[in-house]
Amino acid sequence: MRVAFVGKGGAGKSSLAGTFARLLTETGDRVLALDSDPMPGLAFSLGVPHVDTGLPDDVVEDDAVDGRRFRLADGRSGTEVVEQHATRTTEGVYFLQLGKARGPRWENTRQHFGFQRVLDDLPGAGWSIVGDLPGGTRQPFMTWGRWADTYLVVVEPTPASLLSGRRLARLAEMAGAPQVVALANKVRASGDAERIHERTGLEVVGEVPLDPAQAQADRQGVALLDHDPDAPAVAALRCLVDALHSERNS
Ligand SMILES: Nc1ncnc2c1ncn2[C@@H]1O[C@H](COP(=O)(O)OP(=O)(O)OP(=O)(O)O)[C@@H](O)[C@H]1O
Ligand SMILES: [Mg+2]
Repeated sequence: MRVAFVGKGGAGKSSLAGTFARLLTETGDRVLALDSDPMPGLAFSLGVPHVDTGLPDDVVEDDAVDGRRFRLADGRSGTEVVEQHATRTTEGVYFLQLGKARGPRWENTRQHFGFQRVLDDLPGAGWSIVGDLPGGTRQPFMTWGRWADTYLVVVEPTPASLLSGRRLARLAEMAGAPQVVALANKVRASGDAERIHERTGLEVVGEVPLDPAQAQADRQGVALLDHDPDAPAVAALRCLVDALHSERNS
């Protein structure tokens, strides 16, 4: 399962993606969680210490043979790079992130290709990928999201989020992802998911309630799963993992 969380700024991508990745380990897959937002947030919901470092530049080398710009250096596989450089959560999720932005025109070409080559090389079987993509339209739908087989558009039941959700749904479809679906977040009332479906045109595959435990966890700088593993938002994400996992295996 290769799931990219996209959505308007503040919709809940980082909060949900980290919890989702941790729960996904229960399926038995190895899980790579990827934060490609230069304004990072995924470490907090994964429950790992925040660090500024991304993949080192020397993870790739020039590829004269294939004429591609870069290949993984020293003949290493994607799995080896992940094992060497990822931070691990308590459940064993492997976590990689884009390093700290060093100015508005920060040169990150080698890191960018490093991620692409790792993701290209990671075997489909036995590995799941969960990506926390930035808000906005450019990065998620051009190069950074192309590894995804599912775009999960996180939508709040507010007019602004619904409008963004509809636009993001179109962009994700144009990007050619095999599956584009919505995840309703901060659900307050019974008609919220239906409204999200009507306004975005997307199938709503999960409904995460507006959960005070999530807000408390964020305020305390603790991951939701560590703050309250029985929180309603965790239960909703567990249902989502089960639904997507059984769909894959049916
Ligand atoms: N289900 C929920 N219940 C209550 N609060 C939530 C829920 N989901 C997210 N939030 C809150 O919404 C805020 C934004 O969440 P988050 O940072 O995950 O969004 P994001 O989509 O990653 O934003 P950005 O685009 O800025 O990276 C946070 O304060 C978080 O606590
Ligand atoms: Mg975020």
